[in-house]
Amino acid sequence: MAAWTLDDIPWDRFDRARLDPAIVAIVKAASLVEYNGAAYARHLCRVFADDPGFQQSARAWGREEVQHGAALARWAALADPGFDFDRAFARFRDGYRIDFDSSTSRRGSRSGEMIARCIVESGTSSYYTALREAAAEPVLQEICRRIAADELRHYRLFYKTLGAYQARERLGRWARLKIALGRLAESEDDELAYAYYAANEPADRGGLAYDRKRHGGAYAARAFALYRPHHVERGIAMVLKAAGFTPNGRLGRIASAAAWRTMRWRATRAARQAA
Ligand SMILES: [Fe+2]
Ligand SMILES: [Fe+2]
Repeated sequence: MAAWTLDDIPWDRFDRARLDPAIVAIVKAASLVEYNGAAYARHLCRVFADDPGFQQSARAWGREEVQHGAALARWAALADPGFDFDRAFARFRDGYRIDFDSSTSRRGSRSGEMIARCIVESGTSSYYTALREAAAEPVLQEICRRIAADELRHYRLFYKTLGAYQARERLGRWARLKIALGRLAESEDDELAYAYYAANEPADRGGLAYDRKRHGGAYAARAFALYRPHHVERGIAMVLKAAGFTPNGRLGRIASAAAWRTMRWRATRAARQAA
């Protein structure tokens, strides 16, 4: 069972005076990506076809991701009554398709799949922490606090499962690192860019057609602006741990300094692309 429901959110504390349009735009995009979690849960159940224990956890995980989407969508509709979630989600699903039907992981092994899931949860847990700290609107702060706690728990689930499969599959450290870096690089793919487009660009009402650079840039410029060095440090520590490295000490410091510089550079580039 999920740790909370939409009824636990203090919707009556919503404060329109504390809205930031840039944050409203990225919350709309996030609601679509999260709501798509059920499709990925089905994929995980196929990849782990003979592991009913993990399948059960994966289904619960998928339900929680869908709930994240529902909470963010409800908040976005309060912030922008013109936001039509169902319509935006239909556009997102029609335009952004990846092959979820395969019964094997794109990462080549079950351990690899768990590393990739850990990377995603590292990203989401630091993202919602950064969003909570940047947001001034109290209901959004509360939603983000609950989502960030879930994402950390999801990381722990996938990390624990990784440990169990690693005992059999024994992927080397460099193979693990390669999968981790590969998944990190995919954050530049279409998923977030297309979600930003589907949620914010009324293309069917005279808006612009989808353009990965423009819409990906618009998303990234707003999202990266939320981060502070401590969010990046924490996310990188989780990534290193999933790849089999000790997250503290020199490697952690070098990796988070490099990640912070990369993020600043990408933020500048994103702002240029979106212009
Ligand atoms: Fe989530
Ligand atoms: Fe998650």
